[in-house]
Amino acid sequence: MKTYHLTTFGCQMNEHDSERMKGMLDSLGYAEVGERAGADLILFNTCSIREKADNRLVGHLGEAKRLKAEDPTRVVGVGGCWSQSVKEGVFEQFPFVDVAFGPGQVHRLAEFLTSDSLSAQGYFEFEGFTGHLPMKRERDFQAWVQISVGCNCACSYCIVPSTRGREVSRPLAELRAEVERLAADGVREVTLLGQNVCSYGRDLPRGAKSTFAELLAEVDAVEGIRRIRYTSPHPKDIREDVIAAHAELDSVCEHIHLPLQSGSSRVLKAMRRTYGRERYLDRVAMIRERVPDCALSTDIIAGFPGETDADFEETMEVVEEVRFDSAFTFAFSPRRGTEAATLPEQVPPEVKRERMERLVETVQRHATERAQRFVGRTMEVLVEGPSRTDPARLRGRISHNKTVNFAGVAEPGELAGVEIASATSTTLAGEEALLARLAG
Ligand code: 5AD
Ligand code: SF4
Repeated sequence: MKTYHLTTFGCQMNEHDSERMKGMLDSLGYAEVGERAGADLILFNTCSIREKADNRLVGHLGEAKRLKAEDPTRVVGVGGCWSQSVKEGVFEQFPFVDVAFGPGQVHRLAEFLTSDSLSAQGYFEFEGFTGHLPMKRERDFQAWVQISVGCNCACSYCIVPSTRGREVSRPLAELRAEVERLAADGVREVTLLGQNVCSYGRDLPRGAKSTFAELLAEVDAVEGIRRIRYTSPHPKDIREDVIAAHAELDSVCEHIHLPLQSGSSRVLKAMRRTYGRERYLDRVAMIRERVPDCALSTDIIAGFPGETDADFEETMEVVEEVRFDSAFTFAFSPRRGTEAATLPEQVPPEVKRERMERLVETVQRHATERAQRFVGRTMEVLVEGPSRTDPARLRGRISHNKTVNFAGVAEPGELAGVEIASATSTTLAGEEALLARLAG
């Protein structure tokens, strides 16, 4: 039996594509192994969002090169966004790579592996969704559902539009059918994926147009689906109907990841985000009014070209005002082919570092403070398995997307009532309230 090893970088979209790759390889008779050295096929699903992602990949590819030199019958494949962003450049930079493909060409990997082609191949034309490919899920009760590919935004820092193309939505009926199949297969939680989920359906043909809020309602109606998450919405496109869905539909989680990027309207303009600070704060106010306990998380970039001390202070003000439950913070990283990479007034690395430190410190403080509101409450926890730190305990997540470690007897995929005893910025701890066990 042939074996493969796959390393995934980047976002949840890539994790989803990797599950499809694994499903496809399984159906071709390949078995997954834990070590690259034991694999006939060494695969990478790459990311290109920040420079750090590129640098990490280079190190991993070094090992693949060495293994390939030891045994030239090994096949090395590089898929995903980085591949797409450099296309044939993959083979120029890494001549030992046998097959390279973009995010829309996962199925071409199978074609390559089953052909007798001895020459290296690159596949970079978008040809469709991976949704129809078999999937090997990491967990039986959780699944990704890709609702669209591509992105029509023009954020000046972002490489995604150039790697994943224009937005294409999958038809509503097809998505509903996929979720029904997943539910029948034991899935309890789905995460809907798209670069900008709130513009879902606008590109569908007349007569078949649909909105993201309608999609949420369709998925909520599927028997067996207990939790719906999605990522990411865009502050310019998130409307009241989507926020209302969090209040009105049982399975839509009490968590919204709403990327801020900057709190300065001037910087947001240079980022081409097409919303300002006021619009962002207005969306937050609407969320807080309709779904008071909703967890809010965000992405923030520090040190965008031309960001002054005053601009950064505005970001700090918004952060102080919103008090996020969690936030991913990034130092601006210039990406090839993006407008922001060519802007004058690049911010010096030490200034970026200082700003990052202040941001991280504040975000951490808020996360810890916000998490205290769960202490003393009995929360519904979707059980994921044993705790990572103490296998005698269990781990799961609450609707608000916080991880909980707890003492209890529930099975993975079950919903348990857990009384929360303590909280840190990232995790909660507690004990299963046996009498409050909720139906699975
Ligand atoms: N530099 C730094 N951060 C970036 N992001 C996207 N592009 C860049 C870049 N060039 C961040 C944004 C986005 C998240 C996924 O990555 O905050 O929301
Ligand atoms: Fe995901 Fe963007 Fe990285 Fe591609 S470049 S893997 S879409 S984060």
